[in-house]
Amino acid sequence: MTMLASLTDLTVAYHRASPPSLSGVSLDIASGEILAIIGESGSGKSTLVRALAGLLPERARLSGAIGWPGLDGAPRAGRDIGYVFQDPGSSLNPVLTVGEQVGEGARRHLGLSRAAAEAEAARLLSRVHLPEPERLAHAYPHQLSGGQRQRVAIAGAIAARPRLLVADEVTSALDVVVQAAIVDLLVELVRADGMTLVFVTHDLALASGIADRLAVMAGGRLVELGPTAEVVAAPKAAETAALIAAHIDLATPPLVGGAP
Ligand SMILES: Nc1ncnc2c1ncn2[C@@H]1O[C@H](COP(=O)(O)OP(=O)(O)O)[C@@H](O)[C@H]1O
Ligand SMILES: [Mg+2]
Repeated sequence: MTMLASLTDLTVAYHRASPPSLSGVSLDIASGEILAIIGESGSGKSTLVRALAGLLPERARLSGAIGWPGLDGAPRAGRDIGYVFQDPGSSLNPVLTVGEQVGEGARRHLGLSRAAAEAEAARLLSRVHLPEPERLAHAYPHQLSGGQRQRVAIAGAIAARPRLLVADEVTSALDVVVQAAIVDLLVELVRADGMTLVFVTHDLALASGIADRLAVMAGGRLVELGPTAEVVAAPKAAETAALIAAHIDLATPPLVGGAP
């Protein structure tokens, strides 16, 4: 198994005076794996993946190291790492057509002509299972449903054929049925293309349904990391056990391994 990225003692503070939002996180990400980052709101999940993707605000102070043994050199923004945000309503540009923004990554990073990018956009829209992709390419984001917009955002994120896809709470704003469909789509895409997926969620059931490994965050620290089935069956950290207990209390569907 080759390693895509390696974080060593990563620490991040957003302000000079504030306590770190991420403290001493060390983590290797294997090429081709689905790694879920789980934890309560405010535990540092987004800070971790923003640091990984080079998307922290400029004022943020970062120490430790992020290595990319799986890439030749540092990752290029939007090229080697595709990023999908929670709210496609704000990540999509309202004045550009769906086709223009999905084709943009292919134009910029793969050097496609305008016409070729248009064809590529339609191909990508069909890959994310949007109906009538040629027609849809001329629509504007506000004309689509939330689930369709998230599919468009995913199509845009994979346009430059990144090695790593980061999905930060991408289903949190969607209803449960659409959530499941979007998660299935992500898994289908990363498995088909051999991409690595870092899937951030506060939803343990969602994470354990798809992830090869779970990384559990609490208070800015990585408190547990392991193969999904092992972590769920025998959590080592109190915070992981609490996430599992909260989940069972809510009587939501069974976790991996089939809880009663
Ligand atoms: N842009 C920001 N500026 C200042 N503080 C931030 C910023 N983003 C997050 N934080 C703080 O960092 C901590 C971790 O937040 P975050 O990484 O967003 O957690 P999560 O994604 O798990 O909800 C929180 O205390 C949060 O308030
Ligand atoms: Mg977050």
